[in-house]
Amino acid sequence: MADISAVPSAFNSCQPSIPSFLQDRIERYYQERVRDSWNGGHIMRGRVPGIDALHLSSNDYLSISRHPKIVSATADSVLQHGNGAPMSGIFLHGASPQLELEKRLASFMQAEAGVLCQSGWCANTGLIQAIASSNTPVFADVLAHNSLWEGIRSSGAKPVTIFHNDADHLERQVRRYGPGVVVVDSIYSTNGSVCPLVDFSSVCDVLGCVLVVDESHSLGTHGPRGEGMVASMGLINRVHFRTASLAKAFAGRAGFITCSERFSDYFKFESRPAIFSSTLLPHEIAGLNATLDIVRCEGWRRDLLHSNAGYLRSCLEDFGYNLGNSESQIIALESGSEHQTIALRDALEAKGIFGSVFCAPATPRNRSLMRFSVNAALSKDDLERIARVCRDIRHEVKLTEWPSSRRKRQCIPPKKRVMFE
Ligand SMILES: Cc1ncc(COP(=O)(O)O)c(C=O)c1O
Repeated sequence: MADISAVPSAFNSCQPSIPSFLQDRIERYYQERVRDSWNGGHIMRGRVPGIDALHLSSNDYLSISRHPKIVSATADSVLQHGNGAPMSGIFLHGASPQLELEKRLASFMQAEAGVLCQSGWCANTGLIQAIASSNTPVFADVLAHNSLWEGIRSSGAKPVTIFHNDADHLERQVRRYGPGVVVVDSIYSTNGSVCPLVDFSSVCDVLGCVLVVDESHSLGTHGPRGEGMVASMGLINRVHFRTASLAKAFAGRAGFITCSERFSDYFKFESRPAIFSSTLLPHEIAGLNATLDIVRCEGWRRDLLHSNAGYLRSCLEDFGYNLGNSESQIIALESGSEHQTIALRDALEAKGIFGSVFCAPATPRNRSLMRFSVNAALSKDDLERIARVCRDIRHEVKLTEWPSSRRKRQCIPPKKRVMFE
């Protein structure tokens, strides 16, 4: 393994020297993370995948990122418009393709209106800034995506942590702090668990809270036409805002928020990322327009995705892995310490299986994990190969010693397995 802590840059001499308050901080990373935790290597950088590698790190769940219709819509737009007129979205008006796409996406998700953002990150941070301020309690599931937490931080709102998927805890906290904004993910990106949306929306209804659901990992993958979990469960009248990254099943680069017509204009002129960061480029809009047709019409991709994920989950459970509460295409092998996760990564990669390492700050230090994102293009052979490898490496990676395996043996109820307490 290359020792990256000691690699000098060829251009070091051109850089002005950094004052010690910053230098110390940078050095702490190399000492505490690179040297002490990762033995001079890097937890995120294992082997370079070979040609027969199986990739389980992409969020292109429906396997459409190279779909010919999307590629040609994008390419035609680049040829015709180049990069258009880069500018903030506040200057858009009239018959803009972006505003048309907003209408199409909103109607697809059965919402009154919607706003396109530059990314899921911008959608979440911008939304929380626009709906919460210093006197608003924001109740966030402990596993809610970091962009939602960042929105809470930057809005100056009061963060109130809710135990993972625990609607009773939400109710107790709202009774204690008063009504506010509740933020959850429909499917959690670290472990693939699904939010009990009916219970959460009932608490919000009864106690007068605003409910925000991040549908990044269910838009396109859930619902008969991919309209997402909230719409497919008939909850559109109980969820005030739905957000989504379009860099998952939509395999593009954008974010989206569903809202009322009146809110959408307010958001565009009040949310900081919407005002102070340039909006999407014409070819991104053209590509997403084509993607929406594919997502709606090619339901067989969703069917394959769910059967592939179900098959892999059941094999891994049979082999003794504790998959937490995964009920989706996201499957986490929670190895625990970063040393254990590096050992797991190496064992998998040696056999050509490449997932995504999740470690601090995405998880607590002692709960790092390997995430598999299942996709629709995996064949039966691929799935059998992944399952076989996971079965064969159990001894090598000391599966029985993982803290998650211990919890499985002790049958600790899922609710108590809270990550970021
Ligand atoms: C649940 C969730 N929300 C938001 C985001 C941010 O999306 P984007 O990559 O489009 O900024 C992600 C991506 O990691 C995510 O998993």
